[in-house]
Amino acid sequence: MNEKHIVFVLCMAALNLFTAKHAHEVYLHPQNPVKHINESVELICTVAGCSQEIKFMWSTLLDSSTGGQSKTNQTISRLLFKTLSIEHEKIIVCKVICGGHKENKTKIRVYSFPTNPVISRIHELQLQCAIHNVYPPSKFKIQWFRGDTQISDEYDTSSSEVVAQGMHSIYKPTDEDRGKNITCKVTLNMEGVPEDRTVRSVTVQYGPAFITISNHTTVRLGERLELRCDTDRESSIMWTKLGKSGAVALGKDKELVFEHADWNHTGEYECEVSTAMGSWRSKVNVTVQDRPSVVPHLQNAIIPAVSCMTLLGAAAALILFLRNMKKNLQDIAIDALNT
Ligand SMILES: *[C@@H]1O[C@H](CO)[C@@H](O)[C@H](O)[C@H]1NC(C)=O
Ligand SMILES: *[C@@H]1O[C@H](CO)[C@@H](O)[C@H](O)[C@H]1NC(C)=O
Ligand SMILES: *[C@@H]1O[C@H](CO)[C@@H](O)[C@H](O)[C@H]1NC(C)=O
Ligand SMILES: *[C@@H]1O[C@H](CO)[C@@H](O)[C@H](O)[C@H]1NC(C)=O
Ligand SMILES: *[C@@H]1O[C@H](CO)[C@@H](O)[C@H](O)[C@H]1NC(C)=O
Ligand SMILES: *[C@@H]1O[C@H](CO)[C@@H](O)[C@H](O)[C@H]1NC(C)=O
Ligand SMILES: *[C@@H]1O[C@H](CO)[C@@H](O)[C@H](O)[C@H]1NC(C)=O
Repeated sequence: MNEKHIVFVLCMAALNLFTAKHAHEVYLHPQNPVKHINESVELICTVAGCSQEIKFMWSTLLDSSTGGQSKTNQTISRLLFKTLSIEHEKIIVCKVICGGHKENKTKIRVYSFPTNPVISRIHELQLQCAIHNVYPPSKFKIQWFRGDTQISDEYDTSSSEVVAQGMHSIYKPTDEDRGKNITCKVTLNMEGVPEDRTVRSVTVQYGPAFITISNHTTVRLGERLELRCDTDRESSIMWTKLGKSGAVALGKDKELVFEHADWNHTGEYECEVSTAMGSWRSKVNVTVQDRPSVVPHLQNAIIPAVSCMTLLGAAAALILFLRNMKKNLQDIAIDALNT
């Protein structure tokens, strides 16, 4: 062989290698799958245009182990991930050697959005919406609604906080929210996620729908004192009497009844109605008055007297009145003895 001949052979060999390298095609399915954590995915690598023996090799882009199980049958190789986790989120390469070598890649992406959010009441006057086990947190958005109206600022990401494997958002309800449906809506905005798995929400009624309380009540000493507080069925009721030395709990029924009003029943009463999410308070004042005073009797007796009676008649009425008063005073004295 002369020099020219050697060069020619080398060139042919190089060309052979070159053409052999491009003689087969590698297909990898599916391309860029998006799967929920714990789901499975099977990657299928097929080869076309190879007449020689085929060798498959699976790896990640960094040539580390894939973590899947591979099975090869002639021109097909499958790589199965039975339960996906965040660790499987990587680029997988299928390399095929058929004379030369060729490869195809696909990127596995995972997400996690397994449960509905939960609204709870915290710090007495705040609502918290929490969503657990979400991934990747940056793709999630939390929004608050009153009925159909959005009440949280969409751009205020400071109100949503990423916590361990989840996120939460705080909403401070206003008076306007009372008794209304409050919804927390969590949206996952990630390409490739099935439409029906991108939104989850929860709705609660913020506090009772209504509360009505007795009007200012005036009773006479010894009379029956009855206060009433009405609300919707789902709410619980708590009556307290407010005082300088603190509130005293009195009952949990709609009606608060004292058979005989006492002086110390005078004061301000509060009815608090609550649901799991919120509460309303309403107050009413009670005044306890002395027993019927003599003045109304005097008026009752005198007014008709002036209009239709003689002075003499009026005098007679006055005597009658004084007798009545005496009787009243006796009654009071007897009452006092009896109690
Ligand atoms: C990889 O495989 C996909 C799906 O079979 C195919 O559409 C694509 O052309 C392939 N890419 C390369 C670089 O061969
Ligand atoms: C995945 O499965 C494990 C075991 O069944 C379970 O504990 C975990 O909550 C699941 N994770 C998600 C995000 O569904
Ligand atoms: C290999 O694939 C062929 C055709 O797809 C099938 O008939 C055969 O059973 C497979 N063999 C194995 C070991 O899976
Ligand atoms: C709140 O939502 C429930 C169902 O989720 C509905 O029945 C009710 O009418 C709603 N209440 C208001 C005030 O919109
Ligand atoms: C309170 O008073 C108003 C009118 O003054 C009356 O319409 C309403 O029924 C009263 N409420 C109760 C609970 O007595
Ligand atoms: C009011 O005073 C009476 C005694 O006069 C007492 O028995 C009762 O407990 C007092 N009630 C309240 C609410 O303080
Ligand atoms: C009850 O009376 C007190 C003292 O007069 C007053 O400050 C308060 O506003 C009244 N409460 C109601 C519900 O009318």
